[in-house]
Amino acid sequence: MKYRVLGKTGGKISEVGLGTWQLGGADWGRIAEADALRVLHRAAESGVTFFDTADVYGMGVSERTIGKFLKETKEKVCVATKVGRKLWAESGLKWPERITLEMARQATESSLRNLGVDVIFLQQWHCLPTEEYRRGEVFEHLETLRREGLIQHWGCSVESVEEARLCMTHPGCATLQVIFNIFRQKLIDDLLPQARQHDVGILARVPLASGLLTGRFGPGHQFPPTDHRAYNADGQVFNVGETFAGIPFQRGVELAERVRAILEPDSHETMAQLALRWILDYDAVSSVIPGASTVEQAGNNAAAAGLLPLGEATHRQLRELYEAEVAPLIRGPY
Ligand SMILES: NC(=O)c1ccc[n+]([C@@H]2O[C@H](COP(=O)([O-])OP(=O)(O)OC[C@H]3O[C@@H](n4cnc5c(N)ncnc54)[C@H](OP(=O)(O)O)[C@@H]3O)[C@@H](O)[C@H]2O)c1
Repeated sequence: MKYRVLGKTGGKISEVGLGTWQLGGADWGRIAEADALRVLHRAAESGVTFFDTADVYGMGVSERTIGKFLKETKEKVCVATKVGRKLWAESGLKWPERITLEMARQATESSLRNLGVDVIFLQQWHCLPTEEYRRGEVFEHLETLRREGLIQHWGCSVESVEEARLCMTHPGCATLQVIFNIFRQKLIDDLLPQARQHDVGILARVPLASGLLTGRFGPGHQFPPTDHRAYNADGQVFNVGETFAGIPFQRGVELAERVRAILEPDSHETMAQLALRWILDYDAVSSVIPGASTVEQAGNNAAAAGLLPLGEATHRQLRELYEAEVAPLIRGPY
């Protein structure tokens, strides 16, 4: 494993982290707690020190499982959580008129209890409406929680470049979590250099386009009805960008085959690993946070840190494919 500085936190975290949306046992189908714990331990044993969760993942299940893991593990790890989408879910998939300091404090206290820690390493706003980032009051709420000692650092998980800019110009914003992968290359030219200027660490989410970029899925693949890749494939419930990075599934399967032909995985590396390596080739990225539903995936993804950077020709061909064929298909805020 290799380690990179995470923006203004000043701390070093593993360049491959672990996303734990899957471990909530809700939007990706059920996962037994014992299996979820095995995934967490395998990641930690592979050198992963950064774990991303949210209060809404399984309505606290992901956080509570991480809490158990923290009691069991001897490894020193950092956990980032998020606040916001649980408020939205609890109000019947509507946003409260205004997100107050008290809402942020109560949610953070609940995350502290779930995780069983005294302070949260990184608290992130979880894809709030753009208007909240524009108004800016929400940033001051997290500044207050930081002064009160409930959190060490704060950042924002955002959906669009506009939102990313609104957040990163606040001097307290330490990190930005963005959708960044071979199918979502818009951030390369402007946003990544700006994040570096502001000393904001980039966390790359949905790095495998919900699994499409592993090349595993055939055109007729059916996901179980409890999996967001079935019920949100076209953005029926939440931002379409969070599912397959906003690409219509059947086209995504075809495009993944084109990506495979460019990456040319051999017997020493998987397509998933090469897709993660593509992200790590951008040094503004502090950590890529693939989700894993099995121990094999967690181990395989962590090992991507050991691959050599992809060549210039590979980057160029992937950029050409993105511009000509992928970018026009992307749906949702970007
Ligand atoms: N709004 C937000 O802030 C937000 C939104 C989305 C995600 N996130 C965070 O970002 C993390 C990553 O995004 P994501 O989980 O949505 O998408 P992702 O990492 O692009 O895809 C994860 C899925 O890809 C498959 N996969 C992973 N590693 C694999 C491997 N080595 N070989 C084969 N298949 C593999 C698994 O599918 P199967 O389960 O089918 O095996 C896994 O569930 C999340 O866990 C979460 O922490 C945050």
